[in-house]
Amino acid sequence: MIAGYETTSTALACSTYILATNPKVQDKLIEEIDQIKWDDRSHDEDTYELVMNLSYLEIFVREVLRMYPITTKGQVRQCNQTINISGHIIEKNSIIQPDIFSIHYDPDLWGPEDPNLFIPERHLAKRHPIAWMPFGVGPRNCVGMRFALMELKMCLIELLQQYRILPSDKTEEGFQLREKISIGPDAVFIKLEKRSV
Ligand code: HEM
Repeated sequence: MIAGYETTSTALACSTYILATNPKVQDKLIEEIDQIKWDDRSHDEDTYELVMNLSYLEIFVREVLRMYPITTKGQVRQCNQTINISGHIIEKNSIIQPDIFSIHYDPDLWGPEDPNLFIPERHLAKRHPIAWMPFGVGPRNCVGMRFALMELKMCLIELLQQYRILPSDKTEEGFQLREKISIGPDAVFIKLEKRSV
């Protein structure tokens, strides 16, 4: 339940916060979604293709998960042989936990734009292969990754086809990140404005 629901719903909550506080990003996303001729679909496979080809939605979701990597605690490994990495001896059986926030906010990996800013376009540049690791890496990474990305994109499309997301007086107040099993905000207070399309 935690792996499958808590993660995706928290990512969706963070996405709505970003949309409410970055109106230009929301405009671009709505423009991309509105260009799709959803009525032309004859099979479910067509929906998959259409959604996967939305390039701005792809980099939007990637940027949300860069700034808000939800399950950093889950990424733990046990070292199976003593090894020297850049002069640091890591003993056999040591437990290793990478600090995902430091990786995701490292200016050397994510610059030249300030990693504290939400800029989806930074994902268009070639980056280190594991600079982005919200789903972990290697043979034990997240088995639900492709499903989660599809689910997130479908929810955002459904939402933005009908509503514009606006901030409320309490948006910043609620968005305090806390580490429990996952890392997420206390609350996301937004307003929904029905779109006239
Ligand atoms: C935005 C959504 C999600 C994020 C950020 C996320 C993140 C992660 C991370 C970081 C890991 C640990 C990977 C590692 O140790 O290298 C993991 C493992 C796992 N995730 Fe996800 N996950 C998400 C959605 C899902 C969904 C939707 C499912 C199931 C439908 C799922 C099922 C699992 C399972 C079963 C594992 C354990 C895999 C193993 O140990 O072999 N996750 N996830």
